[in-house]
Amino acid sequence: MEEKQVVEFLASKKLIAGKEEIQLILKSESPEKVMENAAKNTKSFYIERKDVEKAIQDLEEKIIIIEPTKKIMAREVEGSLKIHPDSITNNKTLGTTGDFIEYFRERFKKIKGVLATRINSLPLTSIEKARKTLAKTRVIGMVKSKKQTKNGHLIIEIEDEEESLTCFAGRDSKIIQTAREVIPDEVIAIDGKQSKDLFIIESITWPDIPYKQKKTIEEDISLAMISDIHIGSKLFMKKEFSEFISFLNGKTENKSYEKIKYLTIAGDLVDGIGTYPGQENDLENNDIYLQYEILCEFLKSIPEYIEVILIPGNHDASRISEPQTRINEEYIKSVEGYSNLHFINNPGFAEIHGVKVLMYHGASQYSFISNIPNASDGFTNPQKTAVEMLRRRLLNPIYGFKPPIIPVGTEMVIDNEKIPDVLHFGDIHKNGYTEYRGTTIVNSGCWQKTTSNQIKRGLTPSPGEVPIYNMRTGNMKIEKFTSEQA
Ligand SMILES: [Fe+2]
Repeated sequence: MEEKQVVEFLASKKLIAGKEEIQLILKSESPEKVMENAAKNTKSFYIERKDVEKAIQDLEEKIIIIEPTKKIMAREVEGSLKIHPDSITNNKTLGTTGDFIEYFRERFKKIKGVLATRINSLPLTSIEKARKTLAKTRVIGMVKSKKQTKNGHLIIEIEDEEESLTCFAGRDSKIIQTAREVIPDEVIAIDGKQSKDLFIIESITWPDIPYKQKKTIEEDISLAMISDIHIGSKLFMKKEFSEFISFLNGKTENKSYEKIKYLTIAGDLVDGIGTYPGQENDLENNDIYLQYEILCEFLKSIPEYIEVILIPGNHDASRISEPQTRINEEYIKSVEGYSNLHFINNPGFAEIHGVKVLMYHGASQYSFISNIPNASDGFTNPQKTAVEMLRRRLLNPIYGFKPPIIPVGTEMVIDNEKIPDVLHFGDIHKNGYTEYRGTTIVNSGCWQKTTSNQIKRGLTPSPGEVPIYNMRTGNMKIEKFTSEQA
């Protein structure tokens, strides 16, 4: 379109515009649509710059659906998604205090099974036998407590099915740094020997995950990972999130959208209500149903060939205790029948073209950060915390820390069947990535600007950064949707 045509078009609607406005119209993607919208915006015969700008912005925010004729790689590939039965149990029972005995017994049994298969030169014995021999032995136990003495030594109490054992790491011993990494309620193997009343620690072994080759597939498709959208918050970055949805719809020059076949969303889908004291002041929508309704509108705009897997976080309408059940149908009625949307539990586990993906919101990270020296900088490097989860085979180990554990199921243990190829988590609002023993670890940041609470705690979120993981190459690319100041 040329300047003359713009003038004629406007004249046909009995409108005029200045040179600057005409140039703006001409530079836009769709001059005719912009003029029509600007004509609606204007209240006089003269189109002002703000009328044109609003028209352009409105059009940008409108999601353009891909024309069905366009060939999109991800649409051509047949999907292969298997959600683990544990992840859709929808078990609403909370268990009782009495159930914890069985719950921890099961945790012990599962992780002991992993540790017992490790090759080691020392004989594996029960605590009872280890205490009676003066020879070096290996014992496996669940940590009851870890205490530092006045002199800086560490006393670690462990127990197996029958007995408990008081283990000791001297302040100046070689093992002291490692012993400081031990946390309550985890299961470890300790090599050492009994000396009087104490079992002197020589080495500590965590269950860990085995080294494996990074899993890749033949299909050239990608998995995009996001979390912590926080719809309903005044600080929800609506514009950037809309841009991301538009990107998925191909309204972009960036071709990487064409390979996205899967999208995982690791919780805090909405900001919720009553999540913390005074939250009502931070909410744009204080109706939880409305918050989910807005979420559903966004989800409906995602191309149907993209399979979307969503878990709840601590802000969502689910129980606060872990494992969390999936979002209840009453909140997401308007997406009923959208077969590409999969609401599952937290943690959730799925196989995507054979790639094992573990999703966990990650609210337990605070307990890792405050108890494990290796993870003490987890607020800036959340990937380090996830490594500690894998080492321990536990997503939320410590009883009594937030979020509470309920004695239901065994999903909080990463057993052999569920060693992930990709571990996707969120909660910290900070992107972080690493590779650990063949597992790709991703924390996917957020879509919320910095909250006053985060400023107080010195946290710097990284909103609008979307990791896109190519499942054929195993490479990750970060797409940024950060036009506004976070
Ligand atoms: Fe969050």
